[in-house]
Amino acid sequence: MNALLELRDVRAAHDGITVLHGVDLSVAAGQVVALLGPNGAGKTTTLRLAAGIHPAQSGQLLLGGRDVTGVDARDLARAGVCLIPEGRGVFPNLSVRDNLQMMTFTGRTRAEIEEIAYTRFPVLASRASQTAGTLSGGEQQMLALARGLATDPAVLLLDELSMGLAPLIVTKLYEQVAEIARQGVAVLIVEQFAAAVLGIADHAAVLVRGRVELQGSPDGGLRDELSALYLGSSA
Ligand SMILES: Nc1ncnc2c1ncn2[C@@H]1O[C@H](COP(=O)(O)OP(=O)(O)OP(=O)(O)O)[C@@H](O)[C@H]1O
Ligand SMILES: [Mg+2]
Repeated sequence: MNALLELRDVRAAHDGITVLHGVDLSVAAGQVVALLGPNGAGKTTTLRLAAGIHPAQSGQLLLGGRDVTGVDARDLARAGVCLIPEGRGVFPNLSVRDNLQMMTFTGRTRAEIEEIAYTRFPVLASRASQTAGTLSGGEQQMLALARGLATDPAVLLLDELSMGLAPLIVTKLYEQVAEIARQGVAVLIVEQFAAAVLGIADHAAVLVRGRVELQGSPDGGLRDELSALYLGSSA
């Protein structure tokens, strides 16, 4: 399968301390890849690197086979890379409608963006004038996803979508994410805990202290190995 997004032997540091020690990952169009691992493993750093927000010390970032290492975040965003950051990418003091309205910089009209959002997440339509910060956690994640979709992403990078949400809500959000992937988007999802995301992932990689310790199909023995790895580590 041709990778749309690929990291090759990527190293990255914070304040001179290397936190990614040669990470290889690839995500094809239409594929959902789960990147799992304990606190501090380097998952967020990996996503930020893929979005061009965090620099690589060495290694390569490729988009559609093209080397985009060092290309800045704005250009990667224009090329279709969309990061939904940890802790929800919405403006809490603005209404749902205004959060969506801000995405008109993408060239889409407000009406188009609202239609995309409300078709996928009908509950947002009934909350259009509500302040985003007063939405439930799940609704805020829907809004964050809807804002991301307004950019017509080719690559969607999701950081802990499930944080603080009830399992049923997480399952529903992931169904939407799977549907987005089916339309041809390459999706890379970061989660600390595996259960929910493995249900929709085509492939999973487990990052531990900046290294991919384990990867494979969720249908294989990965679930068992994963629990052994988690129980075996002090994290
Ligand atoms: N801005 C920063 N400045 C300094 N160190 C950082 C910074 N961001 C992350 N780190 C360090 O880099 C390492 C990897 O952090 P990262 O946020 O990528 O982990 P993570 O896997 O996303 O963890 P979590 O599951 O807790 O979100 C950690 O040791 C962290 O302390
Ligand atoms: Mg993180």
